[in-house]
Amino acid sequence: MSDFHGVSVLVSGGTRGIGRAIVTAFAQGGARVTFTGRDARAAEETCAGSGAPDRCRFVAGDVSTAEAAEAAVAAAVEHGGGLDVLVNNAGITRDTLLLRMSQEDWDRVLAVNLTGAWQLTRAAARRLMKSRRGRIVNITSVVGLMGNAGQANYAASKAGLIGLTRSVARELAGRGVTANAVAPGFIQTDMTAGLPPGAADELQGRIPLGRLGTPEDVAAVVAFLAGETAGYITGQVIPVDGGMVM
Ligand code: NAI
Repeated sequence: MSDFHGVSVLVSGGTRGIGRAIVTAFAQGGARVTFTGRDARAAEETCAGSGAPDRCRFVAGDVSTAEAAEAAVAAAVEHGGGLDVLVNNAGITRDTLLLRMSQEDWDRVLAVNLTGAWQLTRAAARRLMKSRRGRIVNITSVVGLMGNAGQANYAASKAGLIGLTRSVARELAGRGVTANAVAPGFIQTDMTAGLPPGAADELQGRIPLGRLGTPEDVAAVVAFLAGETAGYITGQVIPVDGGMVM
């Protein structure tokens, strides 16, 4: 694990699941971590469980708006004395088959998963360029690579996030900022807890390593990409999926 003392990190959607594990990984590595989300009580639990509550700060807000993005970056700069690492993790699903998908289902998923990441990236870019080592890590999904029946909105948002990652990687490379994506497979969180038992068993059967992933499996790769030793990796998508996509 890299040493993150003196490093300022901003994580979107850190109140539970994968985002919470990412906040914890950075806080335990010594970083000052600012995270966003919508649930202040859950945010307290994230900080308390991180092992370094004094280095955690929560900012409430809807990630899909420009105002919330600006506020989150400002809070991270204040809390961390600058900004070195941005992790775009906040995401939602509104799964349904194409013919039943409403305009609202489509718009909301794209707004949170893709526009939200773009808003935060835009708001953070100048600060990251000023950093000694600017890093952007976007949490996409294997579904953004493979597609998935019943998830046209979600898969499109996650595929779009890969395009955003690679464009930003090219634009900011000259300023020493890397941008990569992590593509989790089937990870045990509240997001996947609602799947019907049959669907969960079927998915598990498609994982060569034979188990679901944990939020910590994903957080470890995020921390690696944000660390000192990953400075020559940019524009890449790293699956963390037990071998589902290969
Ligand atoms: P989760 O539902 O447990 O947590 C999502 C987080 O995003 C929460 O902290 C929530 O407050 C925050 N969030 C949602 N909408 C927001 C908004 N409008 N503004 C601010 N924050 C908002 O989800 P989970 O499973 O931890 O997923 C995290 C990321 O990983 C998501 O981007 C998801 O798409 C992605 N992912 C998850 C997989 C899984 O199997 N759980 C697989 C592949 C990708």
